[in-house]
Amino acid sequence: MRNVLVIGYSQTGQLTQITDAIMGPLKTAENINIDYHQVVPKTAYSFPWSFFDFFQIMPESVYMKPIELSSRAPIQKKYDLIIVSYQVWFLSPSLPISSFLQTEDAKILFKNTPTITVLGCRGMWLTAQEKMKGLLNNLDAKLIDNIVLADECGAGFSFLATPLWMFTGKKKPWSWVPKAGVSDEDITDAKRFGDAMIKRFEDVELNKKDLSEPIMKGLQAVKVNEKFIFSEKIGHRSFKVWGKLLMLLGPQNTIRRKLGLCFYTTFLLALIITVVPITALIIKLLSSIFKEKISKQKQYYAQPSGE
Ligand SMILES: Cc1cc2nc3c(=O)[nH]c(=O)nc-3n(C[C@H](O)[C@H](O)[C@H](O)COP(=O)(O)O)c2cc1C
Repeated sequence: MRNVLVIGYSQTGQLTQITDAIMGPLKTAENINIDYHQVVPKTAYSFPWSFFDFFQIMPESVYMKPIELSSRAPIQKKYDLIIVSYQVWFLSPSLPISSFLQTEDAKILFKNTPTITVLGCRGMWLTAQEKMKGLLNNLDAKLIDNIVLADECGAGFSFLATPLWMFTGKKKPWSWVPKAGVSDEDITDAKRFGDAMIKRFEDVELNKKDLSEPIMKGLQAVKVNEKFIFSEKIGHRSFKVWGKLLMLLGPQNTIRRKLGLCFYTTFLLALIITVVPITALIIKLLSSIFKEKISKQKQYYAQPSGE
């Protein structure tokens, strides 16, 4: 019997849908047992978000300051494989997931265990996954694959469509706005990752392969958008500086933090309107000169599953 643990958190249910699509084939497979662990924050994040609630968690998300959780993981069992499904908050793993990965339970669960990360996000996930690698490394987990499903409306439009979804609760609040979220087709297609896991378990039984090698190679588990490589680096640096300043001003929900946030959101909007398209343009112009460097970076971020 193979034991698989799926750890997740989802606000709108999108990530749960993605994980369910992936795990679908395993649910009916023989000799595979799946346990689920939903991470539950002690104080729930409300959805849709209010403007201040959304932005005021930026510093803690970026600095991965653990929040209190009201859920305990099943630590009695040793798992053959762990799936961590997470969403990105401010270029970082979402707070519920980064908090869980810093608990004592996680230390027990992940030690020397093959792990697959699954992301459902707007599309800017490169830095978050680097931070996830750090968290998993601290737990002595073995990251073998990364699967990323990004919003269907594309890199540019998602800057508008995804925040509108977060603030209104509707994926398409107005007819002229492209629909936010991962497409239904991409979610249905994610079944192929579950099929690949079953095949790997079979190969392990036959001693053809082991569980420490990537399973998703050749399945287009990730797509690295080169336009985001540099804008994420700049964005994350600015989040760190502003995050520190905002935390110095005061804890969440204080007037001082809210005043600081007013300045910060104006700056962020300017950053999105200027830096993101400018760096995308620069990259396009310089792409022929730095072709090799960009391709190496793409390869690096696509690991371990590959594009
Ligand atoms: C506070 C917050 C910040 C977010 N920041 C990012 C981000 O930096 N990059 C990104 O690709 N998506 C970002 N998203 C979108 C989420 O990754 C995700 O797609 C969305 O919240 C739906 O996930 P769910 O399964 O929890 O409902 C953000 C969402 C929230 C709520």
